[in-house]
Amino acid sequence: MKTLVIYDSVFGNTEKIAQAIAESLGSRGSVEILKVGQVAPEQLAGYDLVVVGSPTRGFRPTEAVAGLLKRVRSMTLKGMRVAAFDTRLKADELDKAWFRFLVKTGGYAAKRIADQLKKAGGNLIVPPEGFYVEDTEGPLKAGELERAASWAASIPVSG
Ligand SMILES: Cc1cc2nc3c(=O)[nH]c(=O)nc-3n(C[C@H](O)[C@H](O)[C@H](O)COP(=O)(O)O)c2cc1C
Repeated sequence: MKTLVIYDSVFGNTEKIAQAIAESLGSRGSVEILKVGQVAPEQLAGYDLVVVGSPTRGFRPTEAVAGLLKRVRSMTLKGMRVAAFDTRLKADELDKAWFRFLVKTGGYAAKRIADQLKKAGGNLIVPPEGFYVEDTEGPLKAGELERAASWAASIPVSG
């Protein structure tokens, strides 16, 4: 299986999750991992699986991730397996009720990434997944790197 993992990261947390995902997928074939700025839209062609992740910022992926996916032509991902993840705060643990409500109802990056990948023809094979940070700049919550590796391992090889 030939896989490309694309991620963005401001404080380094999503990068760590992306690396754990890439490492896990590495046991099943070749994996390239690239930060979003290093990727041109046409580069997404020719893989068996493309995994895209971003920090959730204002309920959505970073502009770099959204912008890249917007520029991917629909035929590029036709029939290709795709998966999406994000990092996010745990809404239930936020102090202020209004902020808790906002974060819960606003949505998260992974779903939006998944929608964009599907729009470009991709075949979403696992539900979008979120991984939790303790605070805006991190660190990741305990066990999240292991959960990311398990999530990657759950991605079906075919189908
Ligand atoms: C401007 C800004 C907006 C954010 N918006 C959200 C949000 O809508 N929902 C959420 O769960 N976390 C939000 N966060 C927290 C980020 O998800 C967190 O900083 C990110 O997971 C860290 O990943 P990184 O280290 O890869 O940048 C926001 C953080 C910043 C700085």
